[in-house]
Amino acid sequence: MAEPLGTIVYAANVDALADEKLYAAAFLAASDQRREKTLRLRSARDRRLSLGVELLLRKGLLDLGLDTKNMTYGLGENGKPFLRRPEGVCFNLSHSGSCVLCAISPWEVGCDIQRITAIRPGIAERFFAPRERELLMACGDRQEQRELFFRIWALKESYMKLTGLGMRLGLSEFTVDPKENCVVTTRDGIRQPVFFREYEIDGNYRCAVCCRQSEPEGALHKEDLARVLAMLPGSGDGGF
Ligand SMILES: CC(C)(COP(=O)(O)OP(=O)(O)OC[C@H]1O[C@@H](n2cnc3c(N)ncnc32)[C@H](O)[C@@H]1OP(=O)(O)O)[C@@H](O)C(=O)NCCC(=O)NCCS
Repeated sequence: MAEPLGTIVYAANVDALADEKLYAAAFLAASDQRREKTLRLRSARDRRLSLGVELLLRKGLLDLGLDTKNMTYGLGENGKPFLRRPEGVCFNLSHSGSCVLCAISPWEVGCDIQRITAIRPGIAERFFAPRERELLMACGDRQEQRELFFRIWALKESYMKLTGLGMRLGLSEFTVDPKENCVVTTRDGIRQPVFFREYEIDGNYRCAVCCRQSEPEGALHKEDLARVLAMLPGSGDGGF
């Protein structure tokens, strides 16, 4: 089995799955649990994101020479999915707008993608730490401020998702600093040595990936889901 040497990051736009045939193929290729999850979603866009994000994971595993047919998942205490089979590979998934993100790593990893829209002041007030709000306020240019807002959001979520704690981790109780790559500071001033890597997609999305062991790979693997589907075995096995 080829384990990843470092953290590899994949992204894709799921609009291609608006095509009925491609959607049906993605559904067929999905795990049983992914299918169930997808069927519970109301909007067509959410269903495409749900199927698309698992396609990315399968593509990543395939790139490592791993057998996606026998892949099985489990769920951590707070809902973070992990692979039972193949062993030794960690992953994390995220979706936003029309895009999906998947990080695959030999170590525990967290990732987040955010579509850049309008700033939501309620989010900053409720979830950002004082230093993060200060950074935002100090930003003179509105466009820069918007970008910084989504960078901070993605960085915080990627750290939260690394820990797997979900909303049990108070988001305002730790601070990320987009200028300093490798620390998260907790409320009591303790600096956690973590590595972040940020990516942007077409100026419309900000992504962040967080890992404790080393910096995630610099290049984002942008995938075409129609191509990914063409290279996958079309069975729906395994499941969360
Ligand atoms: C699940 C959670 C961790 C992230 O949810 P989200 O930001 O809405 O969604 P994302 O698309 O980024 O991530 C969802 C994926 O994370 C994974 N996930 C679920 N629970 C997780 C956990 N506890 N830890 C890490 N990953 C988790 C799943 O793979 C899920 O995708 P799937 O359901 O298609 O399999 C959740 O805690 C949450 O609701 N976060 C929102 C927090 C917030 O309001 N932040 C404000 C800005 S700072």
